[in-house]
Amino acid sequence: LTDTYTLANDVKIPVVGFGTWQTPDGDVAYQATLDAIKAGYRHIDTAAAYGNEESVGKAIADSGVAREDLFVTTKLWNDDHGYEETKAAFAVSLKKLGLDYVDLYLIHWPNPKALRSEWAARNAGSWRAMEEVYNAGQAKAIGVSNFQIEHLEELFKTAVIKPMVNQLFLNPSDVQAELVAFDNEHNILNEAYSPLGTGRIFDVPEVKAVADKLNKSVAQVVLRWSLDKGFLPLPKSTHEARIIENGELFDFVLSADDTAVIDGLTGKFGSHLNPNEAEF
Ligand code: A2P
Repeated sequence: LTDTYTLANDVKIPVVGFGTWQTPDGDVAYQATLDAIKAGYRHIDTAAAYGNEESVGKAIADSGVAREDLFVTTKLWNDDHGYEETKAAFAVSLKKLGLDYVDLYLIHWPNPKALRSEWAARNAGSWRAMEEVYNAGQAKAIGVSNFQIEHLEELFKTAVIKPMVNQLFLNPSDVQAELVAFDNEHNILNEAYSPLGTGRIFDVPEVKAVADKLNKSVAQVVLRWSLDKGFLPLPKSTHEARIIENGELFDFVLSADDTAVIDGLTGKFGSHLNPNEAEF
């Protein structure tokens, strides 16, 4: 869990992050985040929209792990696109987290429905604000989430700094191959949210068969597959035993045959076009 990828700006990012989407604010998010840090996770992924920044921040403060040894991501929500809005929203997130910087700040969705006619200008404004936050050292890296190629190409027209990360719905059911290749060409790291298909992977017998053969769990096999693809998986759980299990990925390998079985699951449990709240 202390292995890292290196972002385009040489910042190191732990290869597995602890996901907190759908983790309720309060005791649940607090305890899950503490459990994750205790289990050795050093990368925590939250967002303004998850509503749990305060509890996540409190767990970070109480964890006993030095701030510089943790990697913390949060995200700009759809209501706050635009230069001034982004500046204000970033300040609110920092305050809720109780931090004086984040490691990574992302635009959560490229094209919120409410802003359909002005998405490009709004993203350009948000990005300018994020570049300022980055240059001020308040975010050690900046990036996007759910951006398709057209959104990235539009952003590149005005960006001085290129996004370092694109956080995407990536799992065996949908690998967004063309977009991932585009990101790789541009030195943008692909982070994988819903790496377990928001839990739907557990209903897939083919993965269970591979897991049983290797004496590993379904979650471990699929997270290993995600790492093997060069993704940065962000598994979510609120159960300590699962949190621990999801971090134990470094003592086994998948054979080419195992990998082929998992590669064959395209479309089995959803795609990036239909997660909840999709805003393209
Ligand atoms: P829970 O939080 O109750 O443990 P994803 O990361 O793709 O969004 O998937 C998260 C879902 O998978 C949640 O419902 C979570 O449930 C469940 N989950 C996470 N890790 C495991 C695991 N190791 N075994 C079984 N279910 C898991």
